[in-house]
Amino acid sequence: MERTLIKDTPRSASSTVLVKGWVHARRDHGKIIFIDLRDRTGFLQIVFIPKNKDVYDIATTLRSEWVIEISGTVGMRPKGMENPELETGTVEMLAENITVLNEAKTPPFALDTSGLEIGEEHRLTYRYLDLRRARMQKNLRLRHKVVLFFRNYLSHLGFVEVETPILTKGTPEGAREFLVPSRLHPKNFYVLPQSPQQFKQLLMVAGLERYFQIARAFRDEDQRGDRQPEFTQLDIEMSFITQEDILKLGEELMTEMVKAICPDKTITEVPWPRLTYKETLEKYGTDKPDLRKNRNNPNELAFAWVVDFPMFEKLEDGSIGAMHHPFTTPNPDDIKFLDSDPEKARAWAYDIVLNGYEISSGSIRIHTRDLQKRIFQILGLKDAEIQEKFGHMLEAFEYGAPPHGGFAPGLDRIVMILAGEPNIREVMAFPKTGDARDLMMGAPSPVDAKSLKEAHIRLGE
Ligand code: AMO
Repeated sequence: MERTLIKDTPRSASSTVLVKGWVHARRDHGKIIFIDLRDRTGFLQIVFIPKNKDVYDIATTLRSEWVIEISGTVGMRPKGMENPELETGTVEMLAENITVLNEAKTPPFALDTSGLEIGEEHRLTYRYLDLRRARMQKNLRLRHKVVLFFRNYLSHLGFVEVETPILTKGTPEGAREFLVPSRLHPKNFYVLPQSPQQFKQLLMVAGLERYFQIARAFRDEDQRGDRQPEFTQLDIEMSFITQEDILKLGEELMTEMVKAICPDKTITEVPWPRLTYKETLEKYGTDKPDLRKNRNNPNELAFAWVVDFPMFEKLEDGSIGAMHHPFTTPNPDDIKFLDSDPEKARAWAYDIVLNGYEISSGSIRIHTRDLQKRIFQILGLKDAEIQEKFGHMLEAFEYGAPPHGGFAPGLDRIVMILAGEPNIREVMAFPKTGDARDLMMGAPSPVDAKSLKEAHIRLGE
């Protein structure tokens, strides 16, 4: 017999079907045993009666999380016994045959709660069990829907998804980088990308014109609720566009996604408010203001664009750094400040903020060698360093680089907000702890002497 998914059982009333899944709960009511069986589509009540002795005897041994398959007749529940909370709450199955596919130890924590009451380290150690809880299943499915929407929406607009390398060279996004030693090239390292920034720009030089990628990014920085060492961006880049084109695309993309996937949510203001960086700081004291009218409403989404970010910012050591990244173009009206008073120059850089979080950044890029070199110089890079780190970008700009720009919404943050979760770990399948460990896999971990030797690494004390 073919398997029937639990959600389809109400349509099979009075027929015999085969269902498979996990024992969610067992209840003994006098002589009758009830099992709530769980599969990826829902829960089904199964009834065992003593008359069918062999099957009944097995039912007495069942424990939570055992994996079983059962065939039986689906019938309407007796009047007054329906459960409106369950999709299958009008029916139940009378068990006729049962096979135990695998037994299970008692899980280390409850799986029928939200999980938020359990210590997170415990949850992450047994993440494969933690993900069985309904809330986590819902979050992973929501994330899938959001990604699928973005892929389809952008594909229809002529964007092409291109994968860019994970083993690469550093790209400046302001964080410390993860290094990977090279076996074939002693004393040399790959760097994991903080974002695909340079590759997506080079894809514009390559003539793609419209690129996107569901891209993994890596940053070795201190953790926060909305920060992980590896995370996912919806990375986008376009050629022959203006800042206005990008603001329009970003707003449409997010608004249509919310309409399609979370129709219960309302967007506070459409078109989204546009605030300059300066007025945002003056008015709200932050560059990521929470503009919701009612912060207690879980369904309110207050999107806004923050524009006109400064090109540069003063760093702690007194030097000057790129506020977004060094590939961002200055606003042409402010190029005059570059030499005399660079901190006064505004950039064509823009963020999307949502409910008090920065969910995306982007900019129009520099596409000429001279301006790019000048910006690196203002940032204090010596010619040799510019050549060593970014020579390939400068050279690429000499081969017909089109004007281009883009942005990169952080997928984890978006899904976190849509799901109403307190941090991005709740919407990632296998996140790291606050101190960047994977407790389930046991990473990071020591490696054996042979691997170290091959990687040309000698450990210090
Ligand atoms: P930026 O560094 O602002 O820009 O990153 C873009 C978006 O990625 C998300 N994000 C993170 N999410 C989780 N954990 C992190 N550690 C983390 N860091 C960033 C945020 C952020 O808005 N290449 C540029 C984009 C561009 O210019 O096109 C970039 O990476 O939601």
